Amino acid sequence: MRVDIVTIFPSFFDVLEVSLLGRARGSGILDVRVHDLRDHTLDRHRTVDDTPYGGGAGMVMKPEPWGLALDAILADTATPPIFIFPSPAGERFTQNTARELADAPQLVFGCGRYEGIDERVFEYARTLGEVRLISLGDYVLNGGEVAAMAMIEAIGRLIPGVVGNPKSLVEESHEEGLLEYPSYTKPADWRGYEVPDVLRSGNHAFINQWRRDQQLVRTRERRPDLLTE
Ligand code: ADE
Repeated sequence: MRVDIVTIFPSFFDVLEVSLLGRARGSGILDVRVHDLRDHTLDRHRTVDDTPYGGGAGMVMKPEPWGLALDAILADTATPPIFIFPSPAGERFTQNTARELADAPQLVFGCGRYEGIDERVFEYARTLGEVRLISLGDYVLNGGEVAAMAMIEAIGRLIPGVVGNPKSLVEESHEEGLLEYPSYTKPADWRGYEVPDVLRSGNHAFINQWRRDQQLVRTRERRPDLLTE
C-alpha cells in the first residue's frame, strides 16, 4: 500500500520508521511518502494560513498550497486514491473503517492545523478521488497529524504481512464487536495475585467459555454502547 501524507510538520511521522510499521516499510509492504505543505507555497514566507472570511477566531489553511500538493501527488499516481482528512467534524473512525481502508492501493492523508482547511480543498480533492473526513473521537486535537498516525497504524497492521501472526488480529478488541478478554503470563503467582485456575486447567472448552464470559462482562461494564449498536 502507498501512503502519502501532507503536513506542515513532516518530522511528526519519523516514528513510522520504528516498530512493525517500520519493518513493513523496509520490506516494501508499505510505501510511505511524507510531503511538506510549505514546499508548495509560492511566497517568501511560505505562508499556509490566512484569516477566515466572515470573521471569527483562528486562521484557516489556504487552498493554493493544498491544490499544488495534491496535484504533485496525483502526477505520480496510477489510480484515484482515497483522500483522508482527519477532522473532529468527520465520520467516526472504527475498526470497520480501518478494515475498509486496508484494501485500498493508495491513501493520501491531508493533515490540517489551525481552524481547518478551506472547504474548497475538499471539493477539489473529490474530483481526484474519494474523500473522507474522519474523526478519531469526540475531542479536539491541535491538528490532524496525531490522528493520521493513529489511523495509519490501525490500517497498516491489517495489511497482510505487517503483523507476524495473523491469528493475533482475530483475537482482539473490536474484531467481534466485543472487548478483548484478560490475558496472563508466567509466573502463576505474582506478589500474591494469582492467574485464574481455569486458564491453568488445560480444559479448552472451559477456557473458551470463560474468555467469552469475560468479554461480555467487560463490554457490559466499560462499553455498553457496543452491545446496543
Ligand atoms: N483533528 C483535530 N481533532 C481531531 C480528531 N478528534 N480526530 C481527527 N482529527 C482531528
